[in-house]
Amino acid sequence: MIKSQEETPLLAAVLEHCRRPYARLHVPAHRQGQAVFAPWRRHRGFLKMDLTELPGLDDLHAPAGVIAGAQELAAALFGADTTFFLVNGSTAGIMALVVALCGPEEELLLPRYAHRAVLGGLVFSGARPVFLAPDYLEDFYIPLPLKAETVAGAVRRHPAAKCLLAVHPTYYGLCGDLGAQAAAAHAAGIPLVVDEAHGVHFAFHEAFPPPALACGADAAVQSLHKTGGSLTQSSLLHLKGARVDAARVKAALSWLQTTSPSYLLMASLDGARWQLAREGRRLLESALELASFLRREISRLPGLLVLGEEHLGGTGAARADPTRLVINVRRLGLSGYAVAGLLAREHGVLVEMADYTNLVALVGIGTTRRDAEALRRGLKEISRRHAGSRPLPPPPDLPPLPPARLTPREAWLAPCRYLPLAECAGRVSAEAVCVSPPGIPLVYPGEEITPEVIEYLKWLRAHVPAVQGPADPRLEGIRVVDG
Ligand SMILES: Cc1ncc(COP(=O)(O)O)c(C=O)c1O
Repeated sequence: MIKSQEETPLLAAVLEHCRRPYARLHVPAHRQGQAVFAPWRRHRGFLKMDLTELPGLDDLHAPAGVIAGAQELAAALFGADTTFFLVNGSTAGIMALVVALCGPEEELLLPRYAHRAVLGGLVFSGARPVFLAPDYLEDFYIPLPLKAETVAGAVRRHPAAKCLLAVHPTYYGLCGDLGAQAAAAHAAGIPLVVDEAHGVHFAFHEAFPPPALACGADAAVQSLHKTGGSLTQSSLLHLKGARVDAARVKAALSWLQTTSPSYLLMASLDGARWQLAREGRRLLESALELASFLRREISRLPGLLVLGEEHLGGTGAARADPTRLVINVRRLGLSGYAVAGLLAREHGVLVEMADYTNLVALVGIGTTRRDAEALRRGLKEISRRHAGSRPLPPPPDLPPLPPARLTPREAWLAPCRYLPLAECAGRVSAEAVCVSPPGIPLVYPGEEITPEVIEYLKWLRAHVPAVQGPADPRLEGIRVVDG
């Protein structure tokens, strides 16, 4: 039994394995970088650790050695009973939870701003999503976390629902009262599962909103790669208590994840957990300081508005992640996309994402004073040139939630055909349409395409650089269910 957060069972086993001069007659074919394609040869040191299930390296799908030990340490650090390493991002974890908890036609309660990761779970399981519509934050035009009473009311109106899913925080760093959501779910006898993809750092400093498991969640999925320092694609799925059957989640993960999980990804989960355990607080202290400096400086720039908890009063959104800077640029007369483009091209600054009216800049455990200064300088220059312009017209209101005619799975299985947008009114969509990032579907398969949805899609086509989901990425038309 491994006890100390000082240990890195998997990472240490991988490093030890790399020190041994084995004759290698196994996959992967690049043979620890020896046969890698030429452009990578100069960087191949890392590839030594790209291994497979070899003696001493355990097996993600039947962990009994170093992977089991590394998962136990992650569970201990985050206060879970069981933790699973994910090599297909939080996407795989969210799908596995939906599949483990819901069957065909069974209801899953979730906010409309849930990430599209949930869609795979809906199609695999056949579950019926019951979307809860959020309010939107004035000026920023972003979804507010669901109010506790909205969730409690939905739980009461849907006594047969199998599960409540929450997103904590949203892509914009906002958190509602998750404790109240957990209480509502548990009073109805159902689990609360949480997409905590953007909140893995919450557990390491009290300046952040409380982590999902501490609020009573039964499961939480965290993209350790996003804010915790592991490699892209590596995530954690935590379970706590008995409301979610760990054996079913494990089985679902075993078919939703590859049978060739990357040791680079898994060892990075072990290493990042170790780093957070030892130094998380100190690293986040520095991120908080830089974020507060930026928040202060950017708020002073004409034409820019930085989202803070002061904007959330009375809205039901209890907390905001202070290291996530949501910067509204509408009063510069430019879209968020345009400002992100200027920052990248003219100032060498890359932000996490842009939408029509905002930028989202992340200050994290690796952010330097130099990065922060570059963002401040870039925005100062852009503000100097553009402040006083006529503000960008606001985006249109989102269309009302359309009626769901089929479950996403039924729509997926139905025969379908492509129709020009103008002919889609009243038809049932066979595909999802998402703006990504933040990856929130505007249309789900199985939903009626209302005239309001068509108008909104036309606006998206004209104002948003790219959509994900539809077969026709230009959004001239949509695949609809035939008949
Ligand atoms: C809110 C939210 N949930 C889930 C995901 C999926 O996470 P991953 O990229 O780790 O699969 C994302 C990705 O951006 C996200 O923003």
